[in-house]
Amino acid sequence: MTTDLSVFSETSFVVGEEMQGDANVREALLDRAMGEGRRRKSSEKLRCGRLPSAGLAFVARDDSERVIGSVRLWDVSCGARPMLLLGPLAVEPSCAGQGIGTALMQHAIARAADMDHGAIILVGDASYYARFGFSADKTSGVMMPGPVERNRLLGCELKQGSLDGASGLLIPRGRRAGRRQSYTTAERPIVEGRLVQVA
Ligand SMILES: CC(C)(COP(=O)(O)OP(=O)(O)OC[C@H]1O[C@@H](n2cnc3c(N)ncnc32)[C@H](O)[C@@H]1OP(=O)(O)O)[C@@H](O)C(=O)NCCC(=O)NCCS
Repeated sequence: MTTDLSVFSETSFVVGEEMQGDANVREALLDRAMGEGRRRKSSEKLRCGRLPSAGLAFVARDDSERVIGSVRLWDVSCGARPMLLLGPLAVEPSCAGQGIGTALMQHAIARAADMDHGAIILVGDASYYARFGFSADKTSGVMMPGPVERNRLLGCELKQGSLDGASGLLIPRGRRAGRRQSYTTAERPIVEGRLVQVA
């Protein structure tokens, strides 16, 4: 009888830009992490048929280059005000609770700020996203194109005041999918962390 001790071994992960070849693995990961219902979310109406905001789609990879986490941001507007929609954020279920979601969020927020975006909104659990600066304080006037629990519609200002008075229906304004996607090929690892290897 043997005991598999690989659950206690460690390996590193990196967060970097999503590559074109990641699409199938990413979608399978999202299905595992979120279930089929993910496609019926109101946020999906803002993403359907669009590409993520340029340079704002990230994955976490383990030592074997396996994609174990994903986060993407999308160009939307609320009234005439441009902003980003974040989501889905998902981590391979067997790797949850090891800081991968945090690394993806921190990286995505930092890159969005670097790129001069003003604000990010998302639909999610405030108890998770509050740690990254998200709250429902300034989203009461924001409307999703479908049902949403208001206490889960959260915003984070990258520029102070960018969500002041935000009001109106969110509409997509991103690049349309269908033509060849333009991804940067420099897959440079940017955020490094440690995780426990799960067999
Ligand atoms: C939510 C998710 C992305 C978190 O990723 P992760 O890599 O496991 O998260 P981290 O390791 O960075 O953070 C773990 C912490 O988040 C907390 N957490 C995880 N999911 C949470 C949730 N839905 N609500 C509140 N807290 C949550 C954990 O309890 C843990 O708390 P601690 O730091 O006090 O111990 C991941 O669990 C996942 O993919 N879930 C399914 C998809 C999903 O629901 N995505 C949207 C989230 S609203």
